[in-house]
Amino acid sequence: MNAEDQSTNASRTSGAVTRKTMPFQKYKPFKPIPLPDRTWPDKVITDAPRWCSVDLRDGNQALIEPMTPNEKQKMYDLLLDIGFTEIEVGFPAASQTDFDFVRKIIEEDRIPDGVTIQVLCQAREQLIRRTCEAVAGAKRVIFHLYNSTSTLQRKVVFNMSREEVIKLASDATQVVKDNTRALVASGTHLTLEYSPESYTATEMDFAVEICAAVMDVWQATADDKIILNLPSTVEMATPNVYADQIEYFTRHLPHRENAVISLHTHNDRGTGVAASELGLMAGAERIEGTLFGNGERTGNLDVITMAMNLFSQGIDPQLYFGEMSKIVAISEECTKIPIHVRQPYAGELVFTAFSGSHQDAIKKGMEFVESGSDSAWEVPYLPIDPSDVGGSYRETVRVNSQSGKGGVAFILENYFGVSLPRSVLLEFSPIVQAISEADGGELKPDVIWQAFVNEFIEVEGPYQLLDYQIQNEGNDSESCQAKIRVADNEVDVSGVGSGPIDAFINAMVATLNEPLNVADYQEYGLNEGSEAQAICILAITDEDGNKYYGVGISQNTTTAAFKSIIAAINRKWK
Ligand code: KIV
Ligand code: ZN
Repeated sequence: MNAEDQSTNASRTSGAVTRKTMPFQKYKPFKPIPLPDRTWPDKVITDAPRWCSVDLRDGNQALIEPMTPNEKQKMYDLLLDIGFTEIEVGFPAASQTDFDFVRKIIEEDRIPDGVTIQVLCQAREQLIRRTCEAVAGAKRVIFHLYNSTSTLQRKVVFNMSREEVIKLASDATQVVKDNTRALVASGTHLTLEYSPESYTATEMDFAVEICAAVMDVWQATADDKIILNLPSTVEMATPNVYADQIEYFTRHLPHRENAVISLHTHNDRGTGVAASELGLMAGAERIEGTLFGNGERTGNLDVITMAMNLFSQGIDPQLYFGEMSKIVAISEECTKIPIHVRQPYAGELVFTAFSGSHQDAIKKGMEFVESGSDSAWEVPYLPIDPSDVGGSYRETVRVNSQSGKGGVAFILENYFGVSLPRSVLLEFSPIVQAISEADGGELKPDVIWQAFVNEFIEVEGPYQLLDYQIQNEGNDSESCQAKIRVADNEVDVSGVGSGPIDAFINAMVATLNEPLNVADYQEYGLNEGSEAQAICILAITDEDGNKYYGVGISQNTTTAAFKSIIAAINRKWK
């Protein structure tokens, strides 16, 4: 069936449903290169690549409002802080702001030893000369030269033959060589990077040919390698196709040992990270990308995701992302683009479970990790420990109508130090669920706590504890005199028992005719220090065997216990 027939069929009514169709006939599939003996699928990444940040160039060029000099400085300082040792600091021949920024960091001595700045330049003589002016005085420079090699652009944009494009790149390389002689003589360590821009849309044999020609002119050696950067300028196919293209290139490039193969993937199909990962398996050694994938259209490769993916496999990423919230804040400030809540490793929700079963599994996983049975991180639903990026386990569980008792227990325990017996949880979690269903959203810890207070602590009812005194009567017995408000009356009650709680219960039973038994009791400290408080969780049973829980909190353990008894009786009368 041809595409037209398919489309007609698709829009035909089938039963009651009419399916709308997209104009897919307009597009043709990308033709993969044949590489049946590919080896990359069996490779495993064991080390971090060389990273190069292109935030200040590719990222900056894609912003609605490009970064101001101050913002560039802030972003640059952040990139240094993260640990990048190669940073593309701009396109100085194309932008005065970039030129000034490059001059500034050189003149103000803001490039640490061991850090190499990279500058982008088109393969045009005037621009090359201007770029050389920009980097004068820098200790380490990567001169990044590029021209488009794509089949389509050669035809419709430049109207040039293959030979003409090779000559353009070779001549430009010679111009770089001639114009950087003085720079190198003055002590600058200079590396040439060449990008056949739109590599993925270029015939592979031509890409190899042009890169080999550039290498020849530059006279790269194994001790002084050229960087050949193979951009997926527009992502056009599945990432395995890119990996085939990289393996093809590395196999066919003459004097492969004199080149560092670098990748520069964009994200048009949403697989920029996958393409770089597979490209690395296919033999590349260096990766260009940006923080959070900021960049033209759908963005560049997201360096954070790729580095953290390595980290989560037990590989040192060679970059530091331990303060992710700071990285988010500075990126948002400089790019004016908010980071999505589901941005891998960094978004507000990426370590959060709302679902009850996930919350339970996380809780158990954390208990297992804390028990120290295994030193490796293995917690269901959490690929990494949130604290490794500056987050906390507390943020992993949030409560909405999808959550269960595990989530409620987690919030009370982790935010308020209250660990509830299972039967109290069973009573309380439907209350939380009902509130959440009525509100339709997330319940923040304070709201859950207030609901707990209303239900178990400050319970409305006939009784209120006004005052009490305890006296030791000897022979292991204590007496209790208490003043209780019962509805509108103040009543004095008194009783004797084996301890204060027993004495108070006996006083209530005798004076107020409340038949009570303590069926469950636990009391513990909520916090430490001079303001330390105790919580008492207690259940009473009435003569029919019904059980009522009440909770009391006080700096005094006896007061906490008496309050819990009053709360429990009030719940009985609710
Ligand atoms: O995406 C691209 O091809 C580029 C080149 C200039 C490397 O940014
Ligand atoms: Zn790019």
